[in-house]
Amino acid sequence: MDDKRQASSTNSVLEPEDSMTDTISFKLNGKPVRLKVDGDRPLLWVLRTDLGLTGTKYGCGEGHCGSCTVLLNQRATRSCLLKVRDVKDKEVVTIEGLAKNGKLHPLQKAFMEHDGLQCGYCTPGMILTAVSLLKFNPQPTEQQINQGMEQNFCRCGAQVRIVQAIQTAAAEMKGSQ
Ligand code: FES
Ligand code: FES
Repeated sequence: MDDKRQASSTNSVLEPEDSMTDTISFKLNGKPVRLKVDGDRPLLWVLRTDLGLTGTKYGCGEGHCGSCTVLLNQRATRSCLLKVRDVKDKEVVTIEGLAKNGKLHPLQKAFMEHDGLQCGYCTPGMILTAVSLLKFNPQPTEQQINQGMEQNFCRCGAQVRIVQAIQTAAAEMKGSQ
């Protein structure tokens, strides 16, 4: 993994140190971003290493655990498997972009209220997966929540409280989708 690239001080344009670069524009947490970067690199490492958005976590690196989940055009997507060139002209949201005007998203609030986290390592991926779930199924049953979240792993065993948090957030968000 190449972490030698540097972000400019005024915007998110990255300057290459070699010629093996692509120019990739996309929207990140509501703002336009243009990167000069090797397009084969996983989005996960571009977010974490180049852009400093460390809320997106590295777990397995193989698409199994869900800790690296971001929203790509509003759908939960594993950033460890996604080449950064594949987000060109699309919209990416990370956990850093979820709160609006200093106000937590209802799912963030509900995770806190229900103690839906312990170490918190899985939490960004859990919350963004739940955002996507509620986007496309605003009033899921408990079974649908379990199914929708079953590919995200919590090694602390917070799954029951996570499901409760999602149910609470769904009730609060009812009609706001
Ligand atoms: S780090 Fe991407 S799914 Fe585990
Ligand atoms: S809260 Fe620790 S892994 Fe889920």
